[in-house]
Amino acid sequence: MTQDDMKFTVAQAALKYVVKDTIIGVGTGSTANFFIDALAKMKDDIKGAVASSKATAQRLEGHGIKVFDLNEVASISVYIDGADESDEGLNLIKGGGGALTREKIVAAVSDQFICIADESKLVTVMGDFPLPVEVIPMASNYVKHQIKQKIGGTPKVRKNFITDNGNLILDIQNLKITNPKAMETALNSITGVVTNGLFANRGADVLLLGTPNGVKVVTT
Ligand code: 5RP
Repeated sequence: MTQDDMKFTVAQAALKYVVKDTIIGVGTGSTANFFIDALAKMKDDIKGAVASSKATAQRLEGHGIKVFDLNEVASISVYIDGADESDEGLNLIKGGGGALTREKIVAAVSDQFICIADESKLVTVMGDFPLPVEVIPMASNYVKHQIKQKIGGTPKVRKNFITDNGNLILDIQNLKITNPKAMETALNSITGVVTNGLFANRGADVLLLGTPNGVKVVTT
């Protein structure tokens, strides 16, 4: 079974978490894309979706799924999105696709967060995947220095990439994230940081993992 087969399977499994007659949140990335394609089958069962990126909005609309602006909606029943890494506590690293800020906003609003991933994403200690941080462009050098001093690791500006919000991404390499909540908070307190890709203070509620033997459900 390929990694894409596992992503496909887990995306199909997420359909059962979709709450009918509500607005749902939809994430960004290749696993989320499999989910969007699966969701097309039940598009008449939901009111529509809030998208975590321009790319996701386009894909949803391509399937005829209504996309709402977050400010138009009173609530989101469930948010379904992928991740770059998860630990057993369902703390996540997200933002490999650069959509971390909008993803974090949609996750914050949603009643439930279902994370979908292939089994390679579950790790004991996060940090092998470089941690993305969205920064205001004029602050990128300052933020880089602050990260080196206060957090550690090696921050590098993501080349040729601008977020949907017009900002830069710093990817921090060489971290061992043993206290994700504290690191998330510390990074967010650096002036010039919009947000970072640690989803620990609001992690996932359920992790659906695609494995060669089917879908494993992980909860805390
Ligand atoms: C995008 C994300 C994605 O969820 C994450 O990068 C996982 O992507 P994929 O499903 O392609 O492996 O956070 O910003």
